[in-house]
Amino acid sequence: MRRTRIIATLGPATDSPEMIGRLIDAGMNVARLNMSHSTAEWVHRVIHDIRAEARRRNVSVGIMMDTQGPSIRTGNVPNPIDLKPGEKFTFTVGGEQGEPGRSVDVNYENIVNDLNIGDMVLVDNGEIRLRVSGKYERKIECEVLTPGKLGSHRHINLPGVKISLPALTPKDLEDVQLGLEAGVDFIALSFVREAKDLRQLRYHIASSKFKPLVIAKIEHQLAVNNLLEIIREADIIMVARGDLGVECPYEELPIIQRRAVKQCLQVGRPVIVATHMLESMIGNPMPTRAEITDVANAVFEQADAIMLSGETTVGRYPLQCLEVFDKIARRIERSGGANYHDRAELTSPRQKLVKSAVVMAEDLKAAAIVVFTIRGNMARHTASMRPRHSRIYAVCESRVIADSLSLNWGVRAVVCPFNHELPEKTISSALRALVTAGLLKTGEVVVIISSISAEEQIVDAVQMRKI
Ligand code: PGA
Ligand code: MN
Repeated sequence: MRRTRIIATLGPATDSPEMIGRLIDAGMNVARLNMSHSTAEWVHRVIHDIRAEARRRNVSVGIMMDTQGPSIRTGNVPNPIDLKPGEKFTFTVGGEQGEPGRSVDVNYENIVNDLNIGDMVLVDNGEIRLRVSGKYERKIECEVLTPGKLGSHRHINLPGVKISLPALTPKDLEDVQLGLEAGVDFIALSFVREAKDLRQLRYHIASSKFKPLVIAKIEHQLAVNNLLEIIREADIIMVARGDLGVECPYEELPIIQRRAVKQCLQVGRPVIVATHMLESMIGNPMPTRAEITDVANAVFEQADAIMLSGETTVGRYPLQCLEVFDKIARRIERSGGANYHDRAELTSPRQKLVKSAVVMAEDLKAAAIVVFTIRGNMARHTASMRPRHSRIYAVCESRVIADSLSLNWGVRAVVCPFNHELPEKTISSALRALVTAGLLKTGEVVVIISSISAEEQIVDAVQMRKI
């Protein structure tokens, strides 16, 4: 069993029911929908297909909606514009007409106030670099520093500039509503700057029937400055290296990744390492040595999940990418991992109960820790202890809770009905189901953490059993 979870972004290369089924068979645990490039109609269709393919296989597959967030983008460019070093180029706002082929409009009016002469403007993840040379009422004149082709809806980064766009733009609010109606398991907030941004998203989730978990994407210098308060407020953290590597000096990136993963482990928050993990596989069937090592590093660091973006949205080898992720993760996990001492500091009484159960399971070399969980929290605490030897089976009453555990390190969730009058019956029938499914074998020892309501009370208990 692979502990590290795999997230794959769906797109033109992977959005048919057949491809989704093949991605699940290849080990996709969570499907990500990138709202920068998705329509409502597509979201509904693809969610239906993911749910159908997962049910057919009786496995948990989570669905993550990733918002566009307060990002600045270029408008329509009928023909891509060739930019050469030394040339002048203009960004316009508010319907200002620029010279055709030498200018583009942007969706953010305040760019003219936020930028100063000498500031950098980066397009397409920093591939094209320009420097502000002139400031006017409704346009910004720049000098091109590095060459490139500028197209429509390209992402613009202004490193170090405090952008006055709201945490959730009108487009984000619409998308969040769509995600809540469709019942996605996770909503990722892009360009989080402080913990308050996440509380805004929670406010919108509070009144919804479905309660997706909130993912904070760390991809802005301010998020790095406010890292600990963001980790505490979020349900899950994503180290979004694409934008992070542009917003911060790139040599800081490995340090920020390491610090974020370590702090998440200490606080007990799941953490995702994302972007460019197998970038070269967009066009090639094999990863580079550097990519293999980068993926391995995230597994060594004990991230909960690793993520594919362009590799599975527009790449030529989406299934091979999953195979590469799966192979590397299994191999590195088998080697024991590097930073084994980084376990969550579990402090509440219920967390302490989980902690002692995990210590006991490891001591007994138990085959598995079977966690009976109502909302999934006891299973999350178990995962954040990173048991080295024992597998984690989370027994849940509902599919929704099982799917919400799809990106937690090492957790395999199964759905079984709970008998709230006789919790002991719940345990014995779930163990039988695990044996039938081939997940447990006769003679194996398991440690059971049960958190089941009995007579209107939640009773937490730990026990050991031989199957
Ligand atoms: P994006 O976020 O793919 O939505 O830009 C991830 C990243 O920036 O790494
Ligand atoms: Mn990003």
